[in-house]
Amino acid sequence: MTEGLPANGYTDGDVDTNSTTERSLESMAAERYSRRQALFRGAGATTMAFMGTAVLAACGDDDGEGVAVTAGANAATSAGRVVTLTGSPANGYAGFDTAWAQTSGPDVELTGSGSSVSFIAPAVSAATDLVFTFSAKDVVGKTRTATTTIRVSPAVLGFAAVPHSLADTVKVPSGYSVTVMTRLGDPLATGVSAYANDGTDDNFAQRIGDHGDALHFFGLSAAGARDETSSTRGLMVQNHENLNVQYLHPNGPTNVSTGPRPAAEALKEIEAHGVSVSEYIDAGSRKWSYVPTSAFNRRITPNTPMSFHGPAAGSTLLVTAYSAAGTAGRGTINNCANGIAPWGTNLTCEENWAGYFRRVSTDNAARPVREVTALARYGVTSTVGSYAWSTVASTDTIFTKWNASAIGAAASDDFRNEPNQYGWVVEIDPYDPTSTPRKRTALGRFGHEGAFVRAVAGQKVGVYMGDDSRREYLYKFVSTATYVAADASTTSRLAMGDKYLDAGILYVAKFGADGTGQWLPLVFGSVPNRPASGSTPEYVFADQADILVNPRLAADALGATPMDRPEWTAGNPVTGEIYLTLTNNNAAGRPLAGTDPANPRHYGDPNLSASTSYGNPNGHIVRLREDGDNTASLTFKWDIYLFGADATDYGSDANVNVSGLTVDNDFSSPDGCYFSRSTNPAGQINPVLWIETDDGAMTDRTNCMLLAAIPGHVGDGGAKTITNKDSAGATATQATIVGAAATAANLRRFLVGPVQCEITGIDMTPDGRTLFVGIQHPGENGTPAAPSSHWPDSQAGSPAATVRPRSAIVAITKDDGGVIAL
Ligand code: FEO
Ligand code: CA
Ligand code: CA
Ligand code: CA
Repeated sequence: MTEGLPANGYTDGDVDTNSTTERSLESMAAERYSRRQALFRGAGATTMAFMGTAVLAACGDDDGEGVAVTAGANAATSAGRVVTLTGSPANGYAGFDTAWAQTSGPDVELTGSGSSVSFIAPAVSAATDLVFTFSAKDVVGKTRTATTTIRVSPAVLGFAAVPHSLADTVKVPSGYSVTVMTRLGDPLATGVSAYANDGTDDNFAQRIGDHGDALHFFGLSAAGARDETSSTRGLMVQNHENLNVQYLHPNGPTNVSTGPRPAAEALKEIEAHGVSVSEYIDAGSRKWSYVPTSAFNRRITPNTPMSFHGPAAGSTLLVTAYSAAGTAGRGTINNCANGIAPWGTNLTCEENWAGYFRRVSTDNAARPVREVTALARYGVTSTVGSYAWSTVASTDTIFTKWNASAIGAAASDDFRNEPNQYGWVVEIDPYDPTSTPRKRTALGRFGHEGAFVRAVAGQKVGVYMGDDSRREYLYKFVSTATYVAADASTTSRLAMGDKYLDAGILYVAKFGADGTGQWLPLVFGSVPNRPASGSTPEYVFADQADILVNPRLAADALGATPMDRPEWTAGNPVTGEIYLTLTNNNAAGRPLAGTDPANPRHYGDPNLSASTSYGNPNGHIVRLREDGDNTASLTFKWDIYLFGADATDYGSDANVNVSGLTVDNDFSSPDGCYFSRSTNPAGQINPVLWIETDDGAMTDRTNCMLLAAIPGHVGDGGAKTITNKDSAGATATQATIVGAAATAANLRRFLVGPVQCEITGIDMTPDGRTLFVGIQHPGENGTPAAPSSHWPDSQAGSPAATVRPRSAIVAITKDDGGVIAL
């Protein structure tokens, strides 16, 4: 047996194995762990293993002649932290051929060699001992050994909360570092100039776009093949949702709210939207940079050819002058959050696309009533269109397609149906730069925020999707095909998307008062006509394509539950529970009498104007668990995991600060949400949930932020009745179901962004040791002459007052190399 272990073998309770020790092993252990617990609390900080002290050294004494080598003290730590083992020959002679090996406990990978090695403490569900043996030869060639025991506890949040900040920098906890990665305008091809950032740059079809939103790191092997396990090289796929248009031109845009627009300006703005693929590489020890000339780099813009798939492909509703067959289109726009398919593709989500279109004031009269109903329900009502791109004096259809008026003889003569070509989930193969993205119509058309994919072997694939507007719905797509785990390793990735994302049923959620919920199928024949309301006539669905192009109308007809602006969805990789951020609502969207159990609060926020203050200004996060833990379930249980609130305004008011937030974890307007990947300790046992904010209510106290949480589960709180108050002082009560309260242990602020930014987009490397976060639209309220942020230049230096801000991704690493947040 291994020397140093007691003759009766290793037992879980023994933490020291020095057979020469006369003291009780248990008493030493108790003393040691007690001391370390005190240190944990006092330090509240990073690495919790304490190596190399002599006092508690385990010793080899195989020949009974005394201590020969020491393996360092036993120690305690928790999952995800770096542990360094240091052994040393002792008693004055030099050892050689030193080595460490693991003797027992969950397998870990030892890095380094010789007398000092390190490892990342693995995920455990209860305190677990790992034993390691240090060996060294002595002067006569005899191998001496000694052991040390590392007790690993379940993962806990291991950083000090970041305070509120109004600074123009990204703030992270002490012990962490920030590296600015790809920024607005950075080149993505050989020969593209460095970004001047003065409004003169063009060619955004070969540069990083504006307003970076959702992001995902797709691993690459050293040979350049797809490798889901790679934490050192990968493809960063990022959405580019919108524009800080004032900074894109030397003196701001020309006639942006009225037209006519100069073609060059409009082209630049169009191309700054869409999706980017850029290669990221670690030069060693998480020194990240991007590769401007990588052959994988790609821009997908509103001009990139796309194909339609699923039940609505080929529908007359998709016919345009570009595609008389209604099977093809160009481009994607307002790409917000995302979804990741296990077969290695990216699902980009088209969110607030409706506003980009122009319809002339006479267009309603030129169209059938049912088209007018659908256009109104989706908000395609502008007579100019965001940025007025269709006003460019050109016949080029990259401009004219933004005029969605019925001006030709038939739908194939104009772009009256172009709005129907947006609002989809679009599947992209990031590993094939020449592939044509596929619009998946089975997932429905709405203001798609995100599309969390849950794929469990032996179940249907479930895709959970929020529709981001006030009083819109939560949807779920359930595939016809049953998921086969081996499909994840296909090399025909978009064809695998055809298998799982083109056939299935789209459902919409109805939240019951008792904590149960139902998924209502949006299936032609079972969906009733949408009733007339006000001056809007009844809407009669024509076929399944009509339902998928207009699911908002179908969900209305079914009585789905309107929510307080659904944003991202994320699934707990352990429990399968689905989290949905509800960013906020106002009194116009939901008056005092409009609350319901799943959207229960009505109050005011002093930082907002009177007209927008009342309602649910700080938002909340609802979560659900499918009955039977099956993606295809038609019923679920739900509760409200967390309520945003300003703890300074509402510290002890349990009707507003329902979750009991403090200044260390208060937040407003949750938007992005994401669970740490299950490939690292932060995604196992009790996974870390990340919450990003896009806020205007608490911005008097702090810029937008990122929080880390270790949530419980649906039903860990209980029933609660909230007393609400409107702007006139009237009150009403609302019963709801709330999760367990927030504590310093289960919710902490991890990051605060620069001035006027939104924090959106988040992913980790598979090893959890690098966190990528998107900083969107810093300085969004500034002007070209007086930018209101200078980030990211302000991150490390003191830029001139004229330096313009840029959206960018940051890579965040822990200085000791441990798993982020733990
Ligand atoms: Fe694009 Fe709903 O945020
Ligand atoms: Ca968002
Ligand atoms: Ca938002
Ligand atoms: Ca925003």
